[in-house]
Amino acid sequence: MPISFDDSKKIFKLDTPSSTYAFKVYDENYLIHLYYGAYVPDNDFDGYEKRRQYASFSASNAHLTHTGFSADTYPMEIGCNGCGDMRISALQIRNADGNASTDVRYVSHKIYSGKPALPGLPALYANDDGECTTLEVVTLDKVTGAEVTLIYTVFEKLSAMTRSVVVKNTSDKTFEIEKVMSFCLDMESDEYDLITLYGRHNSERHFEKRPLAHGYQGIGSRRGTSSAQQNPFMALLSHNGSEDFGDAYGFNLVYSCNHLCETEVDFNNCTRVMMGINPTDFGWLLAPGESFYSPEAVLVYSNEGLGGMSRTFHRLYNSNLVRGKWKHLKRPLLVNNWEGTGMKFDDEKLYAIAKWAKETGIEMLVMDDGWFGHRDNDRSSLGDWFEDSKKFKNGMTGFINSVKDLGLKFGIWYEPEMISPDSEIYKKHPDWCIHVPNRDRSVGRWQYVMDMTREDVRDYLFNIMSDILGNNAIDYIKWDFNRNITEAGSALLPPERQKEFFHRFILGTYELMDRITKAFPHLLFENCSGGGGRYDPGMMYFSPQIWCSDNTDALSRVDIQFGSSLCYPASVQGAHVSASKRSGYETKRNVAMWGSFGYELDPADISEDARAEIRGQIADYHKYYDLIHYGDLYRIISPWDDPYKCAWEFVSEDKSKAMLTLLIKFATERRNFVIKLKGLDAGKNYICDFDGRIRSGAMLMNAGINLHEVPEKDGYSLAIHFEEVK
Ligand code: DGJ
Repeated sequence: MPISFDDSKKIFKLDTPSSTYAFKVYDENYLIHLYYGAYVPDNDFDGYEKRRQYASFSASNAHLTHTGFSADTYPMEIGCNGCGDMRISALQIRNADGNASTDVRYVSHKIYSGKPALPGLPALYANDDGECTTLEVVTLDKVTGAEVTLIYTVFEKLSAMTRSVVVKNTSDKTFEIEKVMSFCLDMESDEYDLITLYGRHNSERHFEKRPLAHGYQGIGSRRGTSSAQQNPFMALLSHNGSEDFGDAYGFNLVYSCNHLCETEVDFNNCTRVMMGINPTDFGWLLAPGESFYSPEAVLVYSNEGLGGMSRTFHRLYNSNLVRGKWKHLKRPLLVNNWEGTGMKFDDEKLYAIAKWAKETGIEMLVMDDGWFGHRDNDRSSLGDWFEDSKKFKNGMTGFINSVKDLGLKFGIWYEPEMISPDSEIYKKHPDWCIHVPNRDRSVGRWQYVMDMTREDVRDYLFNIMSDILGNNAIDYIKWDFNRNITEAGSALLPPERQKEFFHRFILGTYELMDRITKAFPHLLFENCSGGGGRYDPGMMYFSPQIWCSDNTDALSRVDIQFGSSLCYPASVQGAHVSASKRSGYETKRNVAMWGSFGYELDPADISEDARAEIRGQIADYHKYYDLIHYGDLYRIISPWDDPYKCAWEFVSEDKSKAMLTLLIKFATERRNFVIKLKGLDAGKNYICDFDGRIRSGAMLMNAGINLHEVPEKDGYSLAIHFEEVK
């Protein structure tokens, strides 16, 4: 059993073939963390919890002073606020007396096959009950009556686990949850580097590494979205670790709103790591009998460095996060008109793109922003989700049918959570946008945000979207979200519940996404938030594809794709070839092939040569689709190690095929280089289409392939394919 409880030692042990996580019920029923790391068969963890104590400063439960225990120094499985543990806390409940002292102790537990769903929240799931095992540990704060259940699910085969928390009010008085983190992990040392993914619009998820240092380091979002600025991901890598070696711990929050990812190194040089809803601007009143569910965090451990960690995330998300019809189906190769036409289009213009697409071998036309209301620029019409009749001579349905008659699929753009001040719906319902009394409503891209906490707003959106989705042959939705939330408040929430706004907002969004995905299960969703502003596992639960970034310049986008690959699989990554000028079509193609491939241009704007080149690219897309979508990714040269060039490789699961892509971003004087492949089968022989030679996997991985002949040219790229020969 991957989860066991040793009754005599009171130790919980959560095992996968390559990892172990252990904690125990300590004296006075404290839950004490023991270990997380590479698999260990034993469970003799006696004394592993001990830390140096500073008796006069670090307070203790009076019954335990003689043992050296202090909640301030021992590794706590859930660090609580105000009762001795002075580190960042994972749980803070303000009780009816007005204080926020919180202290939960073990009560009971159960272990079972399978994984529970989290009401209203996206979460990983089990394909069948045998795939994972769950441990629920019930704890109680006997003063507040807060019953706090820690839920751990172990994905046996994948060295991965999830953790979430349920708080139930078992008292007869309402209390307020001020902070509830989805997991809390006390590590034995501070000898790690902290890795996070920072960015901005057009430049999302850049890799950043810094050593842990005493005190607090963290990242988060208070933007009402998971954000382009700081992704809800962090990793700890042992100081001696690298891409291929060392202890790597990856943490990712399945949540698309305000998050906080924190670390604190204490005076014993031990590290606490946590992740959860950002407590700034958060509070939740919990009435007697009610329960609150935290979002879920994903924890991955690998002793094969960052590469091993990433591949585990990729497999896990492909098999246990992404859902629906399109999980396994081959996604259509699309052309999107946004970069080509912006909002200046009509049916004729789009039809010309569709005809070219059909002739070229592209499978779907996506009609982006600008088809509704009177949207000729970004100052109007969001919320008026009915067709702009002046853009469609025979109506939008007629136009969609004409595209379908060509034999193409059809996709449409929405930004459901937004409302333009210049819209019919805003005139009718000015209180439907997020706002607070007596303050101006800030605009972002000239728009406000719909108050998704309101049922009437969600019903309106569901009905008006269903009208179009139900009455037209639509195959795909691009779901956009182009601003952050300000003046956060809802006209319907009472003052004491305004702190619940952000979480209720995202629950509302999730509910709408759930209704739409259930009502139209055939639709392929591509999430988008000005590109990759909501590139998070919460969105991946609804949307098997996410537009990775509005930056389609291959030379800088590749950095975004490398950063994203730390935890997100290629299958999710929307990546398109556009007409932007910095590199040739070969390089644009090679970079965009790392993901759910497509085009983003108006063929009328590009040369006949470029169009011919694109025609030639389509066969490769089909040939290597499975390798890229379902293969293992190996980062060979990462932008954070080498600013001039980078290389990445996909290897099929059975190790019979591989594709190595090299990109020279900027030419340098260093002409010679050998690339050593990774992940091949040492005993297999592979033929290589670069030089036609047959070499063993051992040779390719150890001696490598000598690429001294490739041109040293800005923007040059090369994809080399390897195939097993028997
Ligand atoms: C932002 C997206 O990232 C773009 O691809 C495009 O859909 C625009 N919004 C449309 O307004």
